[in-house]
Amino acid sequence: MQTIITDSPEEAAEILNAGNVVAFPTETVYGLGACICHPEAVKHIFIAKGRPSDNPLIVHVADTGQIGDVAVGLNEYAVKLIERFFPGPLTVVLQKNPHVPDSVTAGLDTVGVRCPSDPVAHEFLRRACCPVAAPSANISGIPSSTNWETVYKDLAGKISCILRGNPSKIGLESTIVDCTGPVPLLLRTGAVTLEQLQEVVPETIPATHTEKNVVPKSPGLKYPHYAPAASIVLIRHGETVTAAPHSAYIGREEPPKGISIAKSCRSLEEYGKELFSFFRQCDAEGIRVIYCELPENCGLGRAIRDRLQRAAGE
Ligand code: TXA
Ligand code: MG
Repeated sequence: MQTIITDSPEEAAEILNAGNVVAFPTETVYGLGACICHPEAVKHIFIAKGRPSDNPLIVHVADTGQIGDVAVGLNEYAVKLIERFFPGPLTVVLQKNPHVPDSVTAGLDTVGVRCPSDPVAHEFLRRACCPVAAPSANISGIPSSTNWETVYKDLAGKISCILRGNPSKIGLESTIVDCTGPVPLLLRTGAVTLEQLQEVVPETIPATHTEKNVVPKSPGLKYPHYAPAASIVLIRHGETVTAAPHSAYIGREEPPKGISIAKSCRSLEEYGKELFSFFRQCDAEGIRVIYCELPENCGLGRAIRDRLQRAAGE
């Protein structure tokens, strides 16, 4: 299959609307989209990524007016979260509208809904004939793509089009909040922080703080994620390490002596933005060990920690 690369949201949407799979930029990570009205294209997403079919996809809308096409019966706090954080890096899990095919939601009666703020994503979604189901645009199990070049590396020849945009501003996947229970449950951390969610709905709790058997957990989170080929070693505050041969460092501290590549970040925001592209750079350069500063468990640090601990297999 030939993969067309275009800068035009209009051209990319035409290809999508014809029943094809198109990768597109968002402010979190790049997505791999198919219109939910084209179930064959939705199935092709799973094939192109090598994604297990029991892992549901997030549905992307151009604006809040489209949410009714995807979900029904929103409660009061869901409306508050949508009003505050859409468009942006938040996914809300809602009761699904029966029009959404089971292949999108892996048979669940809920659906994840997101409205990206990236202007290129917005232009693309606005021109799509219906809401767009999209997981992250990477081969299953490896770090998400935060620029079009890594989408190309993973998926060229397997998908119809890549809509080329800027590198993702945030670089970490969206925060996911289950809005179907009595209180919001934080299923996946991201750039919308727990603290920010609690400012809007103080009852919001992380899913891990509740009993496991009553939590509608995010099915995808049971699979290995975000792992580069190199081993990940986490450096806790105040810890020092002796660098192994062919090793790398990312974080806000002084890199250990003797490492081959270092990415020094001035802020947590920069750390989150650079993390996945650095993992991929290290793999391309044959790095064996990546030392990563483990930030504190609050604010954006919570999301970075989550990705690092998963990558380290903790
Ligand atoms: O930032 C993002 O969220 C990106 C961009 C492209 O929007 N998308 C993304 O999709 O990260 P993906 O498929 O890589 O991760 C989505 C996660 C999976 O773990 C999946 O299991 C979970 O969301 N999910 C989707 N629908 C769900 C639902 N109805 N209930 C619970 N979890 C759901
Ligand atoms: Mg993913």
